[in-house]
Amino acid sequence: MKKIEEFLESISFDKRLYKYDIQGSIAHAKMLTKCKIITDSEGKRIVKALKEIEKEIKTGKFKFNLSLEDIHTHIEKRLIEKIGDIGAKLHTARSRNDQVSLDMRLFLRDEIKEIAKLIRNLQKSILKVAERNIDAIMPGYTHLQHAQPILFSHWIMTYFFMLDRDWERLLNTFDRVNVSPLGAAALAGTSYPTDREYTARLLDFSKVVQSSMDAVSDRDFIIEFLADASLIMMHLSRLSEELILFSSKEFGFIELADPFTTGSSIMPQKRNPDVCELIRGKTGRVYGNLMSLLTTMKSLPLAYNRDMQEDKIPLFGTVDTLKGSLSLYAKMLDTVKIDKKKMLASLEGDFSMATDLADYLVRKGLPFRKAHQIVSKLVKETIKKKKDLDDLTLKEFKTYSKLFGRDVFDTIKVKAGIAARKSLGGTAKESVKRLIAQGKEIVRKA
Ligand code: ARG
Repeated sequence: MKKIEEFLESISFDKRLYKYDIQGSIAHAKMLTKCKIITDSEGKRIVKALKEIEKEIKTGKFKFNLSLEDIHTHIEKRLIEKIGDIGAKLHTARSRNDQVSLDMRLFLRDEIKEIAKLIRNLQKSILKVAERNIDAIMPGYTHLQHAQPILFSHWIMTYFFMLDRDWERLLNTFDRVNVSPLGAAALAGTSYPTDREYTARLLDFSKVVQSSMDAVSDRDFIIEFLADASLIMMHLSRLSEELILFSSKEFGFIELADPFTTGSSIMPQKRNPDVCELIRGKTGRVYGNLMSLLTTMKSLPLAYNRDMQEDKIPLFGTVDTLKGSLSLYAKMLDTVKIDKKKMLASLEGDFSMATDLADYLVRKGLPFRKAHQIVSKLVKETIKKKKDLDDLTLKEFKTYSKLFGRDVFDTIKVKAGIAARKSLGGTAKESVKRLIAQGKEIVRKA
């Protein structure tokens, strides 16, 4: 018997919901009073006792017992212990089925607000590091090969906008979480003259789930959150991957502050980027949680099934991982050091100004495809001669096209290439400054 109880219980993890369970029960008791299903004094005694129970749990005095299965049963049992039959009236016109969905929604609502704030915080750290290093130049990559020089600030601001979509997605999900299932009872509604709109208002929900069956049988609002969380972790994981690469000896672009790295037990020189690695690693778990709940839900007949108890561990795990990752990230970016010289030096001899050279010929009247052909040949042969673009004389340039003039030497300067990309969203300092200004406006608003 004990083994079965241990197998069935959820109290070991759903006790985390106690505050929401009590909040929901207080609203329910008030509704029962308002609708004259219980008397005024009964309602008041229930509310008072519920508040006492909340305190007992908060201060660690409350005794949990596996045989009572879940947080809902624990609180109701204690209520009856405290005030007898009056307490036993609380469960009129509701069921654990609407209660558990309610608790999950109340919990997730708070967590979404918190996570949205953490995203904004991280965005603020990104803005700061971008502004501090507005002029730093680094290689921009495609296929992890040097492509074109960019501003470091442009690179990091890219993550700002990814996170901004994450923030929006999360708040969008909030609208579907913020709907009250309370009063749906087991599945079919109730024969008591209840007022579901009233409890929804008391609990600050924007509306009620219309169908009582829908209210108790779906967990799509959790799945949606788990998908949002997966995207956030995917973004953090990509940033982590880049920071890991950039902090390696081969790149040497950045240095993470000591607390974010660890040493090796045998190699004294090691500074491993463990925080980045673990965020990248934990992304797997967060994706797993999404898959886990999608799979749990996929063939459940309507309405409530006990399978749905399996929504909690994935949700709690994802919330904790996400909050931990986001708050550490902000601190990590606040303390990261950028090696501007190393970044710039890495562009030497990489021919990443080749596009600018082709654009130069286009400005002198050549069609782009032709200019591309000429510059490809020029680059290939210059590499063969073990030279860089800077080493070429005007005479050498002219052997490829007569259109080359003295001004070509300015064109192939990295700084000139960056300054030229003034197009909307481009890497010129003015354009990136515009991105930063937009970013500041975004975080100022919320
Ligand atoms: N522990 C359950 C869960 O988390 C609560 C709802 C139980 N309802 C029921 N009819 N057994 O889903």
